Amino acid sequence: MKVLVSGGAGYIGSHTVLALIASGHDVVVVDDFANSKPTVIARLETLAGRPIPVHAFDLTDVDKTERLFDAERFDAVVHFAGFKAVGESVENPLDYYTNNLGSTFSLLRAMARHDVRRLVFSSSATVYGDAPVPYREDHEPLTAANPYGWTKAMQEQVFRDVAPAHGLRIALLRYFNPVGAHPSGMIGEDPQGRPNNLMPFIAQVAVGRRPELEVFGDDYPTADGTCERDYIHVEDLARGHVAALEHLDAMVEPVRAFNLGGGVGTSVLELFHAFERAVGHELPYRVVGRRPGDLPAYWADTARAREELGWVAEKTIDDMCADTWRWQQQNPNGFPDA
Ligand code: UD1
Repeated sequence: MKVLVSGGAGYIGSHTVLALIASGHDVVVVDDFANSKPTVIARLETLAGRPIPVHAFDLTDVDKTERLFDAERFDAVVHFAGFKAVGESVENPLDYYTNNLGSTFSLLRAMARHDVRRLVFSSSATVYGDAPVPYREDHEPLTAANPYGWTKAMQEQVFRDVAPAHGLRIALLRYFNPVGAHPSGMIGEDPQGRPNNLMPFIAQVAVGRRPELEVFGDDYPTADGTCERDYIHVEDLARGHVAALEHLDAMVEPVRAFNLGGGVGTSVLELFHAFERAVGHELPYRVVGRRPGDLPAYWADTARAREELGWVAEKTIDDMCADTWRWQQQNPNGFPDA
């Protein structure tokens, strides 16, 4: 298939570009580089061994999106583009609603006009709110604890309404906690400023950019008192997109949600100690107060992805840490500017 990947220069998008090419698909990237660097593309071209066409514009621009679909004939779209920082979404909710919903509207319009019927969407386990664990795809209603999460829940609803009207087939991929990096160490997660998420923060402590990890609470009702999450290696996640794309035409309903997670919870301290093993020595940490809004523990029910997509997460927590560490060591300050 010829696949348009929106946000293809981002963390999960870039790994999925490689997985798509490895599975024999042709990829075209659209990315406005608002939260990624153009040097990602050069690395992808080296790893893929071929040029990757890139269109650098903001998808909320309806005219530019329309012109792209006029110029190229796509078989499918994998849609990653969007803002994703929880705290920022609370400070600038209008930016989040405008950007995340706007890009989806203009993509859907262009798809409907040009008869492109296949879409894979980057959703999040955040839409489960505080549903019973493990999270199952048939849980309702979807909810969210912040504007970022609401943009995901709202986009899912838009897809459910629009798909039947325009004959679309859409897979909603609900990610758990993506971590890790490409085993080459050439691409990985490159957060701008202070990392919000656990794994990039630990990696920056290990490389000496941060003095210590602050563990947000050790008085949760879990085995060691720290929060448990379902970490998934970004390479497994990328394969999940290929599996979903190739399954779209056979889906049991036009719009279907799939959890992409490993199905087990790992605590903050377990992940931290696994990272110490990858580095080969102890790292500094300190327990501080809880972060507002954090849930104690959640993980995925993985049955649907296994049974319908034939997909399971294969990489271990040690793989996730080893690959993150390789990426961080080779690129202590992330991707170069040029
Ligand atoms: C967060 C977002 C979620 C988003 C996901 C992926 C919140 C409340 N949730 O999930 O909506 O989809 O990222 O981007 O922000 N931790 C520390 N110290 C740190 C950082 C994190 O102890 O410096 C702990 C957290 O308290 C949490 C765990 O590590 O228990 C994982 O945190 P994080 O990586 O931010 O992911 P989530 O909170 O699960």
